[in-house]
Amino acid sequence: MAKAIEKQELTEVSEAQIAVHWKEEEYYQPSEKFKAQANMRDPRIFDQFGLDRFPDCFKTYADMLTWFEPYRTVLDSSDAPFWKWFIGGRINACYNCVDRHLDKHKNKAAFVFVPEPEKEPDVAITYQELFDRVSEVAALLRSLGLKAGDRVTFHMPMVPELPITMLACARLGIIHSQVFGGFSGQACGSRIQDSGSRVLITMDSYWRNGTLVDHKANADIAVKTAKDLGQDVDKVLVWQRYPGKYSAKTPMVAGRDFFVNDLLKDYKGKKIDPVALPGEAPLFLMYSSGTTGKPKGAQHGIAGYLSYVTATSKWILDIHPEDVYWCMADIGWITGHSYIVYGPLANAATSVLYEGVPTFPDAGRPWRIAERLGVNIFHTAPTAIRMLRKLGPQEPRKYKYHFKSMTTVGEPIEPEAWRWYYDEVGKREAVITDTWWMTETGGFLGTTMPAIHPMKPGSCGPAAPGIHPVIYDETGAEVPKGSGKAGNMCIRNPWPGIMQTIWGDRDRYVKTYFAKYNKNPRSKDWHDWPFLCGDGAVQAADGYYRILGRIDDVINVAGHRLGTKEIESACLTVPEVAEAAVVPVQDEIKGRVPEVYIALKPGVPPSQDVIDRVIKANEEVIGKIARPKHVYIVPDMPKTRSGKIMRRVLAAISNRRDVGDVTTLANPDVVEQIRTMVQGKDTITTHEALPEDIAKFGQVE
Ligand code: WTA
Repeated sequence: MAKAIEKQELTEVSEAQIAVHWKEEEYYQPSEKFKAQANMRDPRIFDQFGLDRFPDCFKTYADMLTWFEPYRTVLDSSDAPFWKWFIGGRINACYNCVDRHLDKHKNKAAFVFVPEPEKEPDVAITYQELFDRVSEVAALLRSLGLKAGDRVTFHMPMVPELPITMLACARLGIIHSQVFGGFSGQACGSRIQDSGSRVLITMDSYWRNGTLVDHKANADIAVKTAKDLGQDVDKVLVWQRYPGKYSAKTPMVAGRDFFVNDLLKDYKGKKIDPVALPGEAPLFLMYSSGTTGKPKGAQHGIAGYLSYVTATSKWILDIHPEDVYWCMADIGWITGHSYIVYGPLANAATSVLYEGVPTFPDAGRPWRIAERLGVNIFHTAPTAIRMLRKLGPQEPRKYKYHFKSMTTVGEPIEPEAWRWYYDEVGKREAVITDTWWMTETGGFLGTTMPAIHPMKPGSCGPAAPGIHPVIYDETGAEVPKGSGKAGNMCIRNPWPGIMQTIWGDRDRYVKTYFAKYNKNPRSKDWHDWPFLCGDGAVQAADGYYRILGRIDDVINVAGHRLGTKEIESACLTVPEVAEAAVVPVQDEIKGRVPEVYIALKPGVPPSQDVIDRVIKANEEVIGKIARPKHVYIVPDMPKTRSGKIMRRVLAAISNRRDVGDVTTLANPDVVEQIRTMVQGKDTITTHEALPEDIAKFGQVE
């Protein structure tokens, strides 16, 4: 078993030494005004977080939290590479995000919820109200018999009830596992099963692009999927988008489904003390895609994770308690957990929650919200930036908001889009931090420190304090900076935000993230365990990193990770499909989108009906974000003589590139047939090089 995983998971970027050429961009300097007010402006911080001061340097992070009992050990590496941070003490994440602010900030808004329909008023929730509501929900969860260490799955949209329920779990030590609301019921069900949750918490409906979506329908599918996989769900708790009213058509199931608002009536005004938990106890699971078809549950622990997102929110997002901060991500992804909920709240910020689509009803919406609420820190993904730029390039000029700082996250940003963000959205006043990191890392890894480093469009910057990246080639040799060569991005040292393990799969954790460059599996010394991030990168002479994309067959669609194998297995649920191959295609807005090739079983004629059902299967098994741009029915897949599908050839065809030499394939003729089908008879191939992630796509095979 271990061997099989090793083979599947490990990435082989045999051409990692390929030279990468790109135009060096000029620097942009942060303004004096920004620097003067920044939380962290002392460049000596990087000496204080040097490797020679590791791991004790991170005490500064733990000290930003309030402990019930102080921790005794900074880093316990006795079970390497399962790092345990800040152990021997007692702490509670909810207490740190809510209770401890009541003295000074009880009347200040913790969240401002902005519903998608513009006529609905904003809802501000003060820290005092948040405390009251979280306490009541915690009382309800406790009454259901839930306790520390139990898992509960959420499938919630972007509404305040989501962070309220997360914090209620954190208060009791219940491990929450939020599945992105846009994922299908089936995707939710398989995550319920993996985490062993007996309770699902959802909402009846939510607004998306002008439609009130019936979300309860997904809960029924999720429960059934989990049951088929062997996991019973006893209770489905349903929040109501409009309290007191049911806004879905799907019937409630007697004895299983309950309206949260009804149940809460019994717990009005109830106060529940936060449970003093061990610092290393798990806080939540966040499922993410990798090389295999099975999503992995990244397990994050309380003290390490919370200290890391607290410190990086303070120093890198530069959140001060008086700021109004808006991160437009979805809480269903790691960005939302770390930088809408836990990090900002631990810093007593006001965090804006927006329910809907950024361009609804028009591309001025975000700037209207920013003006009305006085947002001064803005955080979003390149996909949203590209879309807002395309639909309303001059919209920001119409609104009188002022951002002091802006973040981009989730995908590489093209210098063009970066400059629009800087000039138009930031009005040349705001600094931009391009933050590179991932679900597994809890918080930012590659970034500038906004008051210390200049910005460089398209590069994330050097690294956060205490993060010591290194680029290795396939042989494990370091790729020097300024060499113009790409390689595998790794981090030399552990840091508090790193995941603790993959839920229920220690083997996969070690194999996926450490085995490639670890030389001594028994070592308890952290020096021996560089963390393999899963991205290719190149480091310029000035030390700035440019991220080239995933190396593990993950397609990054609009900043969301989708596993190739997950999409292909969804296609194979259509009985007529014999083989399926998915490849990433460059997209002007979303960065990458999946395109699907299928071969049908013998005797099955090609039809639009099969194509439609393949599309539908992806929406049902994964969610609408997995909808392929095109589905092509091919007579046969291009294969090597040993029978492996050459996804790289298909990726070249889909991206209108030269397929290169295919004479060694078992069936070279089929390549030209497919090319004509996709590109048309007249060649429209461009000779421009493919982006690294696409060029290397499919090498894991
Ligand atoms: C990509 C999202 C370039 C990268 C926080 C990573 C980025 C994957 C950046 C993780 C960035 C994230 N520049 N690429 N600033 N930020 N990525 O787990 O490929 O949803 O491995 O976490 O997104 O996606 P995840």
